[in-house]
Amino acid sequence: MRITRFADGEIDVKIGHSVRGADVFLIQPTCQPVSENYMELFIILDALRRASAGRITAVLPYYGYARKEKKTQARDPISAKLMADVITLAGANRVIALDLHADAIQGFFDIPVDHLTAEKLIVEYIRKLHLPNAVIVSPDVGGAKRVGDVARLLDLPIAFVYKRRPKDDVVSEQRVVGDVSGMDAVVVDDLISTGGTLVGVSHALRAEGATSVRVLATHGVLAGDAVQKLVDSPIEELVITDSIPLPPEKQHPKIKVLSVAPLLAEAIRRVHEDRSVSELFK
Ligand code: R5P
Repeated sequence: MRITRFADGEIDVKIGHSVRGADVFLIQPTCQPVSENYMELFIILDALRRASAGRITAVLPYYGYARKEKKTQARDPISAKLMADVITLAGANRVIALDLHADAIQGFFDIPVDHLTAEKLIVEYIRKLHLPNAVIVSPDVGGAKRVGDVARLLDLPIAFVYKRRPKDDVVSEQRVVGDVSGMDAVVVDDLISTGGTLVGVSHALRAEGATSVRVLATHGVLAGDAVQKLVDSPIEELVITDSIPLPPEKQHPKIKVLSVAPLLAEAIRRVHEDRSVSELFK
């Protein structure tokens, strides 16, 4: 497939081979530049549908706009639902997604959604750290279930941080709930955007006596100067996955990247062969 721009910036797509009747998997993380990547996705889906593809699966390692999944104020949009509608309208018959910000986003689609998780990768990474006195921490109440699952698999205690956001992208208050004193705190989150949440969490954990702070998150959005803020914070190690490509200028020795490629590949294989995907997570 070749993607080009018309002189006025509009996107053009040329599919170089016949896809008639084919089981097509289109991999497109809708990361920054989010709107460009979404428009590309919609236009490619349209091209595939009009080229008589047999079945089209949109593989979305990162689902942009996922954090706008409900109205938090009057007259708010629900952009995560709008994206789901347009993905379906453009031609997707099925979606494979990874660690959606909220599980309920699956229900925004009226087509099948296979919701994958990087939990196993995260659990294995933490296990190999052999931390003597670890506690798994959720950076907010919304992440408590995710963190509870990870802690249960590792048989470790949990703590969470009460977070208040007076407005989007601004965090005003973070209070640790649970015992972290003298412990190695491992914070697990779905995504890091401005880094504000995790920088605040790392300070709050150290103030409560945590001996070290590590962070594992599936999606490294790392907007603006997030990397600098995180690197300058008490966070010792930051582990993300390659659901979003990490450009060279954002790479740093403190940042480790785990690959979700084998997980996506196995899910694609199973969908193609009409085999269970949920078995992957048993
Ligand atoms: C919040 O619910 C998410 O799980 C993340 O903690 C949050 O969205 C990260 O955003 P930022 O890095 O901008 O604080």
